[in-house]
Amino acid sequence: MNISIFGLGYVGAVITGCFARGGHRVIGVDTDATKVALINAGKSPIIEEGLPELIAAGVQTGQVSATTDHAAALAATEVSMICVGTPSKATGELDLRFVERVAENIGAVLKTKASRHLVVVRSTMLPGSMRDVVIPALERSSGKRAGVDFGVAVNPEFMRESTAVEDFYHPPKTVIGALNDADAELVAALYRELPAPLIKTRLETAEMVKYVDNIFHALKITFANEIGAVGKALGVDAHEVMRIFCEDRKLNLSPVYLKPGFAYGGSCLPKDLRAMTRLARARDVSVPLLDSLAASNERRVRDAVEWILATGKRRVGVLGFAFKAGTDDLRESPIVTVIETLLGKGFELKLYDEHVSLARLVGANRKFIEERIPHTSRLMVETMAEVLDCEVILIGNQSAGFFPALAKLKPEQVVLDLTPNAKPPATPARYERLCG
Ligand SMILES: NC(=O)c1ccc[n+]([C@@H]2O[C@H](COP(=O)([O-])OP(=O)(O)OC[C@H]3O[C@@H](n4cnc5c(N)ncnc54)[C@H](O)[C@@H]3O)[C@@H](O)[C@H]2O)c1
Repeated sequence: MNISIFGLGYVGAVITGCFARGGHRVIGVDTDATKVALINAGKSPIIEEGLPELIAAGVQTGQVSATTDHAAALAATEVSMICVGTPSKATGELDLRFVERVAENIGAVLKTKASRHLVVVRSTMLPGSMRDVVIPALERSSGKRAGVDFGVAVNPEFMRESTAVEDFYHPPKTVIGALNDADAELVAALYRELPAPLIKTRLETAEMVKYVDNIFHALKITFANEIGAVGKALGVDAHEVMRIFCEDRKLNLSPVYLKPGFAYGGSCLPKDLRAMTRLARARDVSVPLLDSLAASNERRVRDAVEWILATGKRRVGVLGFAFKAGTDDLRESPIVTVIETLLGKGFELKLYDEHVSLARLVGANRKFIEERIPHTSRLMVETMAEVLDCEVILIGNQSAGFFPALAKLKPEQVVLDLTPNAKPPATPARYERLCG
């Protein structure tokens, strides 16, 4: 393909060299004449292992060139990749000024370009930026329609500086957001040979994935540092601790606990987090990330209560209130907190949980139920059907049978799903998840 790359910084320079090695003809475009001159002289404009060789080889074979003339670059190519900076404003807000300007420049040329052109954004942009800023800029200046007269796609970049060339050939994944499949396919063709999952999705999803990745990386580093600080204060080798932690691919480095749903609870997580943060405090170790977890968790509990209050309905049925399916353990169940709050506000409640019912009759948990949550236990009903006539249905855990039962509801009923369920169940009722 003939590709024009807008922005010859860390991202643009690397993909210029790499796409050229892949057999494509690449024209780099930058407003910075020094970077353009360096590339045309066969030199890399940035320090990056392996890149000088790729640029030198590309210039020698004629596959790489650079220019400050965007119109000439657009005329000679059928795909453009926008790799300009997306810095922060002083307020922290994302500054899309450079991306918007490039989009306007590209659009002005597309106005008179007869052949179909594809505009791909590789710069990191918040969800909605493509649809609300870039596409309008392209359409404004071209007088043409995105997805119809020209193609658009979002293709976030996952490389890391210093290993960028290696990362280009071994990316963790390739993500392509597009308005239609033909445009996504054209972008996909550029990465077909790479040994990585190729994911086609919506524009906004592709935009958001990049942020979630980077935020999670920041979270991991902060987490490891706080564990390190606590370990140091306790005389425990935190490197050894984290090495062992990382060996657990079942629960730690895995998709487990990474699905949006509801607050954590149960007999271990709240208690153990409290004990560790209390110990850190006692040793004068500041752990703001660990300290923030309980507050964030409580916020989700309040969200659930506020959501139910906002429905204006008073009769609430709860399907499952042990903190997860398959247990009768009610200790620190966040759903019990929601129930108790609603009870305090005079709501009419019916609760169903098969495992808790059983425990009330025979289990060791009977004492806990009778002594610690007597009001809650009195609201329990014996069948799921008794809950299904309530105005609001709260799904508290993923016990078998809860989702199929929602098919029997009426359109005027509302369902709030607190579970990490990703697939909306079939129901005529209004259905919403608390998170996600
Ligand atoms: N640097 C990284 O490791 C990395 C990794 C993944 C994603 N990203 C994202 O990629 C984007 C680019 O990052 P970067 O580090 O390469 O930025 P950079 O600042 O190194 O390069 C941006 C380039 O764009 C050029 N430019 C600005 N306006 C232009 C215009 N109108 N026409 C042509 N060129 C123009 C600038 O002169 C500069 O050379 C950002 O959104 C960034 O968040 C960066």
